[in-house]
Amino acid sequence: MSELKRFGVSIEKELLKSFDRYIKNNDYGNRSEALRDLVRKALVEDRWLESRSSGAGAIILVYDHHQKELLEKIISIQHDLKEIIVSSLHVHIDHDNCLEVIIVRGKIEKIKRLESRLKSSKGVKHVSISKSTLTREF
Ligand code: NI
Repeated sequence: MSELKRFGVSIEKELLKSFDRYIKNNDYGNRSEALRDLVRKALVEDRWLESRSSGAGAIILVYDHHQKELLEKIISIQHDLKEIIVSSLHVHIDHDNCLEVIIVRGKIEKIKRLESRLKSSKGVKHVSISKSTLTREF
């Protein structure tokens, strides 16, 4: 861990009250730890705006496996972008639904392309992405 620096923050009373409630709800030991996490999260989001950067993450999708065309489409999309897929996990949730976790690493523009192609596939019920970076800065 690098050297810690202190800085003063001015904040509205009500906003601080809400922040303290957030700290309590999320089991943070103190304001500094909570603030560091929020800053890191914002920096990761910001980095993901730079499509040429590299990132890592996980895409979660839920779909009905009875739609054969959809199943083939999902497989074909993943083959098209196989260079950014590290691994994937398939779980049969219930009689109809499958859940897949796709671990990705590579150019952010390609990760976003994978996410949007999956999202726009008719019949996919849910797509979410967890974003991380490969940087050591934060
Ligand atoms: Ni399944």
